[in-house]
Amino acid sequence: MTGVLDRPYSMADWRGGTQSLREEYDYWIDEVEGTVPPDLNGTLYRNGPGLLERGGVPLAHPFDGDGMICAFRFDHGRVHFRNRYVRTAGFLEEEKANRLLYRGVFGTQKPGGWLANAFDTRIKNIANTHVIYWGGKLLALWEASLPHRLDPVTLETLGLDDLNGLLGANDAFAAHPRFDSQTQRLVNFGVKPGLSTRIHLYEFAASGECVSQPVFQIPGFAFIHDFALTPHYAIVFQNPVRLNPFPYLLGLRGAAQCIAFNANEPTRIWLLPRAGGEPQPFTMPACFVFHHANAYEVGDEIHIESIAYSHFPTLEPGTDFREVNFAALPASLLWRITINRSTGKVQSTIVDDRPCEFPVVHPAKVGQPYRYTYLAAGHDPKVNAPLQALWRCDRDTGEQQLWSAAPKGFVSEPIFVPRGLAPQQFLWQGAQGEDDGWLLQVMYDAGSGKSQLLIFDAAAIHAGPIARLTLKHHIPYGLHGSFTTYMT
Ligand code: CO
Repeated sequence: MTGVLDRPYSMADWRGGTQSLREEYDYWIDEVEGTVPPDLNGTLYRNGPGLLERGGVPLAHPFDGDGMICAFRFDHGRVHFRNRYVRTAGFLEEEKANRLLYRGVFGTQKPGGWLANAFDTRIKNIANTHVIYWGGKLLALWEASLPHRLDPVTLETLGLDDLNGLLGANDAFAAHPRFDSQTQRLVNFGVKPGLSTRIHLYEFAASGECVSQPVFQIPGFAFIHDFALTPHYAIVFQNPVRLNPFPYLLGLRGAAQCIAFNANEPTRIWLLPRAGGEPQPFTMPACFVFHHANAYEVGDEIHIESIAYSHFPTLEPGTDFREVNFAALPASLLWRITINRSTGKVQSTIVDDRPCEFPVVHPAKVGQPYRYTYLAAGHDPKVNAPLQALWRCDRDTGEQQLWSAAPKGFVSEPIFVPRGLAPQQFLWQGAQGEDDGWLLQVMYDAGSGKSQLLIFDAAAIHAGPIARLTLKHHIPYGLHGSFTTYMT
């Protein structure tokens, strides 16, 4: 591990990972340090904004960038790389025009000032948040609209996908499905924010067929990005925010910039019964939650591990995200929250002061008691900063393992792949431990200006990557991804 530095990164280095990648590649990665495990076979798909400007105009926020899929195909010790943009309708129109034709939800405006943007509430489905393989389909997800279906091998865009007629043209399908290994179902939700909020919960069999779809109504506006899953509940957090749509309608701000955080109101936690029924509300002091690591039930108690901010981390209009002062933003920290369903009491503790994001657990432990949480984290244990480290927290012993890529490396979401994952299976059999597997992480190396795929032994993160594969180019900082053995 690199020693503690005064400031473990430079902004110029970090900005290297915020550049667009316009080219689309297709090649075997031949620059390899260490050994790719020959029994690690399958495809790692990742999604994220690939285009950070259009027609020479920089985007105001990376979350507004058009989705670009990367596929790393592991084939008995070798790895093939391919990347393709999702050919959404908006992407194709803007390619042709070579300028921004749509406003972004996170603050990107069309050129021409507020007059050019006022009352333009059209939304471009940018398909940039997550990518999953399920029911024979590779799907790029964006939470405000329908998935795009892609060819799992060529990554060619096949078009919008309504999930066999499940979704209507104006429906939403969240970018955070969770796999329930107990029932072998994929669970996801869809939410359209409004004065009150309607939440659809969907459960899919391995065939892709939707086998359960209860609908819930909760009072007030809700901005819900992710959820947690237990055997009986889907759990969503209603952060204490209000939406003032006028600056958005008037063309002055992006929709997400019109969200105001109210620290005097509680955060509401809703238990949505998976079998249907009334949502059950609980409250805790104000915080803002994007992501959950996991949740499980013990008797009347529900334990949830989440990443929470003290308040909504918004950028003021006019701020260039490329110049953001990380240390001045609220840090995202790992929290443990316990709900007692019989007393109504909610307790929460912050696990550590280290800033972190993108928590994952062993896929068989989703909704079940578990031991290890894997995260992308900051190098400095106290100060908010870009993600530069891989971090493992042990719930049983409190032990932590950290590997830092500082000062030149900037990391993304880790993906856990259990050892012994058989081809054409979601299940992993046998008695192997919860850390018996690999963590796959894409890292931008500012030293070379290229990105690397890192492979870690999940049991020995602090030992550093067992393999480091260097690409021929960089990949802009990504969002979410998944691993499947189906496309081998
Ligand atoms: Co997310």
